[in-house]
Amino acid sequence: MAHEIEMQICLGSSCFSRGNKDVVMFVREYLKKNHLEDKVIFKGARCMGLCNNGPNLKIGDVITEGVNLSRIEGILEKELAKLK
Ligand code: FES
Repeated sequence: MAHEIEMQICLGSSCFSRGNKDVVMFVREYLKKNHLEDKVIFKGARCMGLCNNGPNLKIGDVITEGVNLSRIEGILEKELAKLK
């Protein structure tokens, strides 16, 4: 099946120090649990230039700032709903 959405998490040092690693782990689990691994390309990205509000996540062309463990599930539910 073709991938339908590309998702990139910033792996720059500022986003790293703000906890992007936890978000990465959550997203991987979420994609697996919801059988979305074939529909979403999930990869790391370089600094997006928005370090002050990281961790930052880009879904398609849209960057969401301040992505943390308390927000990530809601963001994924909303953005990936059409793939389920
Ligand atoms: S380190 Fe993530 S936007 Fe700069």
